Amino acid sequence: MTAVSTKVQGVDKGLEHTIASESEMSFIDGAKGILEYVGIPIGDLAQYSSYEEVVYLLWNKKLPTSTELDSFVKEIRDASELPEPMWDVIKQIPIEAAPMAALRTMVSSLSLYDEESEDDSVESNHRKSIRILARVPVLIANFDRHRKHREFIRPDKHLSMAGSFIKMLTGKEPTESMAKALDTCLVLHVDHGLNASTFAAIVTISTLSDMYSAVTTAIGTLKGPLHGGANEAVMRMLQEIGEVDQVQSFIEGKLERKEKIMGFGHRVYKVWDPRAIYLRGFSEQLAADTGNQKLFAMSDAIEKIMEQRVGDRGIHPNVDFYSATTYRSLGLEIDLFTPMFAMSRVAGWAGHCMEQLSDNRIMRPRCAYTGPHEAPYTPIENRG
Ligand code: SDX
Repeated sequence: MTAVSTKVQGVDKGLEHTIASESEMSFIDGAKGILEYVGIPIGDLAQYSSYEEVVYLLWNKKLPTSTELDSFVKEIRDASELPEPMWDVIKQIPIEAAPMAALRTMVSSLSLYDEESEDDSVESNHRKSIRILARVPVLIANFDRHRKHREFIRPDKHLSMAGSFIKMLTGKEPTESMAKALDTCLVLHVDHGLNASTFAAIVTISTLSDMYSAVTTAIGTLKGPLHGGANEAVMRMLQEIGEVDQVQSFIEGKLERKEKIMGFGHRVYKVWDPRAIYLRGFSEQLAADTGNQKLFAMSDAIEKIMEQRVGDRGIHPNVDFYSATTYRSLGLEIDLFTPMFAMSRVAGWAGHCMEQLSDNRIMRPRCAYTGPHEAPYTPIENRG
């Protein structure tokens, strides 16, 4: 057994230059601002496709025929019923809990009522991915109903995932435009290469742990404000600024203090995030339709200042900047913005986990030791 060299090439902070996996799902060109799902540009999918069709594309690496799509949609809708004990689990969650913490807890609990939870076969992981995907919207909407002391509403199997979510959340039939708007947001968030939460998911599944553990890990990772939590932080920033004429002084102040402006910058994109380009137009339209013009006007003013001040450093709006105004215009409460991101990204996490398992090796990077060597053990009575 040859001695393994522990000489490292230097710490790759944030793993910026490390390629940890291969995938056929998302292609990202950060220099040109390109995002494709299995080769199809994200703008075309946002305009013409649906969330369920995009999930099929990512998992099967091809667009479905209408028969294939119909049966995939039916499979998802049939899987949306929660195991009965889960309704009591939701009732046990403190109503003050942050929705992302509640979601992390609920998805973890889901595994306790899935008799296949420990089956790591390809077929079982596919079925579990469908179940988790179908049930996350039910959990998010009904946790919100629980914290507002409202009756639970079960999923409507005649509606799309977006439409059924709106109905469960609001108790009202969704309008076609609202359901389509939410569906488009889901399409724009479903996958994005090896982002932090997807990486966390494949690290977990690479030990041959189960799909529920991998998705639970990913939810906890997405929650952070540097990642999926940024959309909520953007909205809170807009609320703090309050008026368009306060934008300049607020942003200049934060930049002076070297504080980051949420919704800007990206590890990979050094030009506009193509999702932000799509969401910008979308949020402008939705804001106008719903009387939220001031939110868009403030966002537009922030964008202009940031482009002037830091645009030349490759710091531009990312997916979270205009999704904030979009979700607000759809009537969502701020602390449901990141759960919306999670609702969509479950498909990306599961897809990468299934890819990882198809050619797995446990993830185990190195750590450069910087502590002492051959140190003495000092008896406790002699320690200062
Ligand atoms: C998502 O990876 C993905 O694909 C994620 C995602 C997905 O779909 O899964 O796209 C979703 O998470 C989008 C990002 C959401 N997060 C935010 O909006 C939070 C604000 N953004 C930053 O924290 C930051 O831009 C990151 C976290 C997104 C990227 O961080 P990096 O690549 O580690 O960059 P960095 O922090 O090292 O910044 C480099 C420089 C620094 O300046 P210097 O110290 O070199 O002088 O750019 C500056 C930073 O201060 N900078 C910013 C800034 N982002 C970077 N300055 C002001 N405002 C910002 N938003």
